[in-house]
Amino acid sequence: MAPYKIVMVRHGESEWNQKNLFCGWYDAKLSEKGKQEAANAGKTLKDAGYKFDQAYTSVLSRAQDTLQIILKTLNQCDIPIQTTWRLNERHYGALTGLNKTETAAKYGEQQVAIWRRSFDVPPPPMENDHPHYKDIVCDPRYKNGPPPEQFPKFESLKLTIERTLPFWNETIVPQIKAGKRILIAAHGNSLRGIVKHLDQLNDEQIMGLNLPTGIPFVYMLQENMKPAQGGSLQFLGDPETVKKAMEAVANQGKAK
Ligand code: 3PG
Repeated sequence: MAPYKIVMVRHGESEWNQKNLFCGWYDAKLSEKGKQEAANAGKTLKDAGYKFDQAYTSVLSRAQDTLQIILKTLNQCDIPIQTTWRLNERHYGALTGLNKTETAAKYGEQQVAIWRRSFDVPPPPMENDHPHYKDIVCDPRYKNGPPPEQFPKFESLKLTIERTLPFWNETIVPQIKAGKRILIAAHGNSLRGIVKHLDQLNDEQIMGLNLPTGIPFVYMLQENMKPAQGGSLQFLGDPETVKKAMEAVANQGKAK
């Protein structure tokens, strides 16, 4: 029996997911469907008897609000929550605010697939004249970081992992080893980075991973923080529903 268990969940559908817009560090709110997804995630966890001692989330509302809805459903709003920019979604650079389908029609589905799912090919940078540059860079939610000189204009998954893993290794892992029951509510790509690390996926394999919104997944981890018996993440949901939700995420990058 693996000594440790940790639960992670991508936020519920956001209003920009609903409009199929590249979101990244833009602070989109949950859609009504996303709020329901979060409540469903809370019910799934409650019905399975999960309780938590500590939660972690990003500085973006869609993840924080997903976490609050889950904890309210679990009647655990009193547990400590640590927020960090290091769990933010990947910064989508100049693509932020563009429609994914229109972008696929303009640049090709393959190019959009590379921007969305490749390991080390970043999107084009968000320059100072970008419509959302000011509301992201000047947002007070970043008062605790990243430092101005490190504030991203774009992120590949590789760059995202480089800022997420230090938090995983230095903050979350010690709490796992201390026996704390942990819940992480974050984003599709910051979680893909953690999954790539835990499963030791290569750059090719990670291309195929699409995480659905609002469906919790569990890792059973050994003392060395590797998945038990060479396993991987286990979704807490009906396999057919999960499969369809993952395909829907992948298809967001198709030209209609
Ligand atoms: C976004 O930031 O646009 C989404 O939350 C994740 O987008 P992706 O699935 O296109 O990477």
